Amino acid sequence: AMDTGVARKPIEDFEAYKEQLQERLGFSTEIVRVMLHKARKSPKKIVYAEGEEEKIIRAAHSVYEENIGLPVLLGNESVIKSKIKELEYDEKIFEIIDPENSNKLEKYAEAFYKKRQRKGVTPRDARQMMKQPNYFGAMMVEMGDADALLSGLTSHYPQTIRPALQCIGVKEGFKIVSGMYIVIIKRKIFFFADTTVNVDPTAEQLAEIAISAAETVKVFDLTPKIAMLSFSNFGSAPSPQSRKVAEAVRIVKEKRPDLLIDGEMQADTAVVPERLESEFPFSDLKGGANVLIFPNLDAGNISYKLLQRLTDATVIGPILMGMKKPVHVLQRGDTVRDIINMTAIAAVEAENKK
Ligand code: ACO
Repeated sequence: AMDTGVARKPIEDFEAYKEQLQERLGFSTEIVRVMLHKARKSPKKIVYAEGEEEKIIRAAHSVYEENIGLPVLLGNESVIKSKIKELEYDEKIFEIIDPENSNKLEKYAEAFYKKRQRKGVTPRDARQMMKQPNYFGAMMVEMGDADALLSGLTSHYPQTIRPALQCIGVKEGFKIVSGMYIVIIKRKIFFFADTTVNVDPTAEQLAEIAISAAETVKVFDLTPKIAMLSFSNFGSAPSPQSRKVAEAVRIVKEKRPDLLIDGEMQADTAVVPERLESEFPFSDLKGGANVLIFPNLDAGNISYKLLQRLTDATVIGPILMGMKKPVHVLQRGDTVRDIINMTAIAAVEAENKK
């Protein structure tokens, strides 16, 4: 659990709760302030794969100045140095590593080759891959030479997450990583998953996504009420797709009888409590769901993006669930402040993992 030391306020006071939630997620300066204390004791090394980007250099500078962590910038040394000079920062506060010339390249390539030799990777491939900042950065974290990786400002999501999956992989007890967004709309908080990673999850994977989401929701002191979404309501439109979702419900109920979960159900059945109550009184998911698990990535990704763009919903994420070490995927539109905040989250996670 991420304890930022933020005072707990009653959930009845929604505005206060929203503020508290944002504070806990690091979307305010509060978490940064709290991080000052933690980071001073044991500064975390944060590696940025896109070290040549001006936004990254600006963020890294603040991360150092605000004592959130020790920034490592990956990229071409002279390019990075000339940008630092332009920004009139002190060069000495940054650790700059050009993966191509790093004396760690061989060591990382060897370790990566050992991991991937039965996945079609040759020693030569491994060396070539380690020259790419996303791979080099992920391997730094895997080998313990850095505490967290941030990347994604300039690349597509898969290009950031694939190296992390190959080098770092999933947390013990997990089989997959998945992505969650928090959607705050009409004074209600919803947790959407998987919105970013698994394109077409199996019933077992859907079950794992639901369980991961439930665990994440508990971090926010909320009781997860999980709806497994489909175009079908409890067998109303039988098909392989809807049976997959029903099977996922069965698996979760068997593995985790403590969790409140039901489905397969349509989205309105999930969020309009009266519908569930009047039409499906046998369901024990009373009062409406707050965790919405989508049958596939199309549905999850499209849903949160439509809400984000067409309504006044506050959308927070992506929160990557199930990765063994802190990796955060930045978004192309991220501001310098967003990057600093994501760094603070990563630093707190790294601290909690110790
Ligand atoms: N969890 C854990 N491990 C995984 C997962 C997962 N979800 N997916 C793949 N892996 C593993 C693979 O099994 C593989 O392991 P192995 O090679 O040791 O057997 C390893 O990770 C690497 O996998 P690849 O085969 O290289 O990658 P794959 O082709 O499976 O792609 C990826 C994984 C990149 C996550 C892919 O599923 C993908 O592109 N997903 C969609 C991402 C995306 O574009 N999201 C939408 C945009 S995000 C946004 O809007 C904010």
